[in-house]
Amino acid sequence: NVTRYYHFDIAPGTLAPDGYQKQMLLINGQYPGPLIEANWGDWIEVTVSNSLQDLDEGTSIHWHGLRQYGTQYADGVPGLTQCPIAPGSNFTYRFRADHVGSSWYHSHYSAQLTSGLVGPMVFYGPKSAPYDIDLGPVLLSDMYHPYYEKLVERVNNNGSEVHFAFSDNSVINGKMVFDCSSVTDGTPCVSNSGVSKFQFQPGKSHLLRLVNVGSSGLQFFTIDEHDLTVISNDYIPVKPYTTNSVTLGVGQRADVIVHGKTGADAERNYWMRANLSVLCTLPEQPYGLAAIYYDEKDFEDSKTPTSAPQPLIDADMPCSNPPLNTTSPVTRIPAPPADQTITIHINNTKNETGHPVYLLNNQTFRVNYNEPILDLADEGIFYYPSDPEWNVYSTGNSSVVRIVWENQKVDPSDPNFYNLTFTHPMHLHGHDYQVLSYGFGEWDGTIINPENPIRRDTTLLPASGHLVVQFTTDNPGVWPFHCHVAWHVSTGFLINILERPDDVKGQPRIQKTIDQTCAAWDAWSNRN
Ligand code: C2O
Repeated sequence: NVTRYYHFDIAPGTLAPDGYQKQMLLINGQYPGPLIEANWGDWIEVTVSNSLQDLDEGTSIHWHGLRQYGTQYADGVPGLTQCPIAPGSNFTYRFRADHVGSSWYHSHYSAQLTSGLVGPMVFYGPKSAPYDIDLGPVLLSDMYHPYYEKLVERVNNNGSEVHFAFSDNSVINGKMVFDCSSVTDGTPCVSNSGVSKFQFQPGKSHLLRLVNVGSSGLQFFTIDEHDLTVISNDYIPVKPYTTNSVTLGVGQRADVIVHGKTGADAERNYWMRANLSVLCTLPEQPYGLAAIYYDEKDFEDSKTPTSAPQPLIDADMPCSNPPLNTTSPVTRIPAPPADQTITIHINNTKNETGHPVYLLNNQTFRVNYNEPILDLADEGIFYYPSDPEWNVYSTGNSSVVRIVWENQKVDPSDPNFYNLTFTHPMHLHGHDYQVLSYGFGEWDGTIINPENPIRRDTTLLPASGHLVVQFTTDNPGVWPFHCHVAWHVSTGFLINILERPDDVKGQPRIQKTIDQTCAAWDAWSNRN
């Protein structure tokens, strides 16, 4: 097989993606970062150099949704699978394109992704449904004008009683306009920075690879006066179904086919919309636009579309993924019986300094960059059945593990309890899990569509509800299962699945990654 080589230089930079000039972190000077492309089965080698000496920040890149089968040390999670890449050093990730479809990569160090360390990945292979034109990635993101550290501090460290930040904008492929009249502090700002543009062909079918690469906000995606045919969720092809809006939590993807208009309808131009909602619990946030042109001249001139907004099918829909019986995977896999069930109750509280933290079975997760959990597992320090202090849950030698997330108000009489539950995009590394159930209230034990349940790697856990998933333990490693909202993972919303500890022990490739990254990180941390 072929190896595809990339080099990423991560450095601070100033850009104005929506017209408002802000401090960012850029990959090779770009936001979003460069496209990673490969054919199914290719190897990918990415050398990441950290040029953040002036900011004194480590970094790492995680390849969202790839299974990293047999390459768990390349998963890019500092404190779990490696030490952070130290400023002034570099690290080479080598892993396989083990899926076909659309995804993204992002920094997994604090909330660096909020300041720009995100980019698209596309892996080509057999088509699960026919289309004429591949228009490539459509990255949807909430946008925040302050540097990410300020936001993390605002959410975590000032005694704030909430776990969110309000966004300033919503961007599509890194672009949107902003109304600079609201800027009073003298920050350079241009009101007419323009939006992303797409060219449609009359009567042709177009593939759009939708990815929510944001920090917090749910996106519900629509194209005025056009339907969307969903052909895959995350990396998993599904039986096509047609809808007029697609809801994506952070980290979720959908490949959709859009049929081009014909006749007089193909002489007009249309808006694509990224309607942003913060966890469905907060007031509406700014939405993003991109323009779709049928006419090449209009495309060149960036003429303003005049289309009418698409009505939503169901006003409740934006807060959840569609009902589990809406579709099913093209490749049928029935749900096997589980031989281990891990139930996680979600709660939140204040820590000793009054800051909000998430509790998972009464334990919050605090990352320790100096002591990656995979290193401890490799050294044979087993945690069985679990080690609460590290939020480590071991599968032992179980072959099918079921995880039940319960997101209800656990003890409203506790004075430290915040009376808030949110919708959480729940992402598991290293697997496509089968989704057995989600909905409001506790799980009643019913499996939806047990003959062929939906599989994906990120799913919305409803507010005051449950999410039940399971996977087969065919991929030894330490895999985080976490909420993908940046402020939630940084307030402890993460568990570590230690999968098949016996097969993690004593792996030379794990030790090599740990030794290399931790030596540079220790040297940087102790440089004076
Ligand atoms: Cu997309 Cu743990 O991440």
